[in-house]
Amino acid sequence: MFTSIIIPAYNERDNIPLVVDLLEKLLPGDNWEIVFVDDDSKDGSREVLMRLSRENPRVRFIRRIGRRGLASACLEGMASSSADVFAVMDCDLQHDETILPAMLRAFEEDPKLELAVGSRYTGRGGGTGEWSKSRVFVSRFATRLGSVIRKTELTDPMSGFFAIRRELFEETVRKMTGKGFKILLDIVLSAGRPLRVREFPYEFRTRQHGESKLDIVVAFEYLYLLADKIFGRFVPVRFVLYILAGLSGLLLHLAVLGALHRLAEWPFVTAQIAATLTAMVSNFLVNNSITFRQQRLKGGLLVPGLLAYMLICGIGAVVNVQSAEYLFENNIPWWFAGAAGALVGAVWNYAVSTQIVWTWLPGVLRKR
Ligand code: GDD
Ligand code: MN
Repeated sequence: MFTSIIIPAYNERDNIPLVVDLLEKLLPGDNWEIVFVDDDSKDGSREVLMRLSRENPRVRFIRRIGRRGLASACLEGMASSSADVFAVMDCDLQHDETILPAMLRAFEEDPKLELAVGSRYTGRGGGTGEWSKSRVFVSRFATRLGSVIRKTELTDPMSGFFAIRRELFEETVRKMTGKGFKILLDIVLSAGRPLRVREFPYEFRTRQHGESKLDIVVAFEYLYLLADKIFGRFVPVRFVLYILAGLSGLLLHLAVLGALHRLAEWPFVTAQIAATLTAMVSNFLVNNSITFRQQRLKGGLLVPGLLAYMLICGIGAVVNVQSAEYLFENNIPWWFAGAAGALVGAVWNYAVSTQIVWTWLPGVLRKR
């Protein structure tokens, strides 16, 4: 049984050689390899990876340019491999590699085994190490939430430490969202049937080098993954987020309009223009940090992005009014014509700004 140990690594220069050493000492035989997936780290990881993979035929790496994401990195590592079993492990030594041999042996002992999961919440010894109380709480809450739609019981579905048989990977890979951090959950949800799993308790260690890439918005990506699995068949979750961002903009618009027109006594039209501009800027920022988080514009891209967004929404407003007017003139009730116009405008804004503001523009500006 040939095994690939897939190790996603982003800015893990100091940890990479340590992981290789540990695995070399630990794993018997030579029926295994290590595949690092590096998302173009800025800390010199690449030089370390090049050196190690020249010295050691067991080590290879994939370098992805212009892309980020733990889950998709793991998927691409697996896709690049010819192994029978893939094990996924963090690069920062937080996962206790000493349970790995037992995890891999389980696949040989039980030919029907599909998944082996390192769990922080089962048996003795399991635990979250030195996590803060709030992080433990969030992690447990997220675990419960996920269980609503899972078909396979797992004590630690958020675990990033697991091994999967190739057959299960092939069955699920095209259904996975590949977004965010929670690849194990993505696999289990995408399988949509009970899986044959074994869990292996371990204690989560404290990170020694480098820093964690998990921030609060990653928690949001997790909700996104769940929503996508539940509703994604009907409406793209992104479009829903876009509409929600739009509604928040509408509230802000009314607040600004009220403040300027009623309190500051600006003329209505001036106040309406100011409110519209405020709402556009706010919608842009909200969409940029939530709806399009994966392609978020930063630094010098923000202003051109905002201008393009405002232009597109301006055209959207014209499209909106034109469609509504057309319907209204054809004896459609005013409220239906108005709502249909708004929907057409929203779909336009969504579709065009997705393509232009968050896809085409960053590509063009980055090239220069
Ligand atoms: N290639 C790549 N691209 N690797 C990444 C990226 C990325 O965008 N983001 C993170 N990684 C790598 C890190 O270098 C590390 O090896 C591993 O993924 C985990 O990232 P951490 O930033 O250390 O995450 P954590 O310690 O907070 O999260 C751990 O606990 C979660 C359990 O709640 C990880 O084990 C997760 O996999 C696990 O789900
Ligand atoms: Mn970590």
